[in-house]
Amino acid sequence: MNEELYAKIIDALVDDGYILLEEALPQELLSRLTHYATTSTNYKSAGISNAQNFHIDTTKRRDKTEWIDEDGSLFSQYLSFCEGLRVSLNRSLYLGLTYYEAHFARYEKGDFYEKHLDAFFGSKNRVVTTVLYLNEAWQEDNGGELLLYEEDTKVIERVVPKAGTLVVFLSDKFPHEVLPAKVRRHSIAGWFRVDRR
Ligand code: OGA
Ligand code: MN
Repeated sequence: MNEELYAKIIDALVDDGYILLEEALPQELLSRLTHYATTSTNYKSAGISNAQNFHIDTTKRRDKTEWIDEDGSLFSQYLSFCEGLRVSLNRSLYLGLTYYEAHFARYEKGDFYEKHLDAFFGSKNRVVTTVLYLNEAWQEDNGGELLLYEEDTKVIERVVPKAGTLVVFLSDKFPHEVLPAKVRRHSIAGWFRVDRR
């Protein structure tokens, strides 16, 4: 039943390298994810870089994150949506995606994430990024927009992080940043990868 949505995402990735979808997931799933995101007490300060180079730098990013556990039944519906997308992407685009990793992220008032790429060009790890927003009463003037850039300087999308909006983009193509949030902001960021877990 998600095949139509997967096809739409795949077409957009081929044509534009990214897509923005509103109300991509069933309301009932969004509500459950939002409830978890807003009540969990397991968030940790987010780091920069990979395992070897991992460090916390609050001048670059200030969000707190919680990795989604593979067998968390609470998240199985979301993870199976992503697993279906992974299989479709591989079937249509031969991306060879091996797995999906994701974390909840919480930005408190004033928190931001400065401009970055999720993967360096040609690096064999993160290939496709997803961000799903979980902010039910979000107002346009609450800040916290995701800015997507083309060629480092040109803003091509300004995404308001309201509940149900899903952004999918090629991880090594689009620098992006999160503007300072004026109120607490929740999302799930995830990555389809090509390496081994
Ligand atoms: C990230 C990221 C964007 C967002 O976690 O790498 O860029 O809008 N998140 O939360
Ligand atoms: Mn990112």
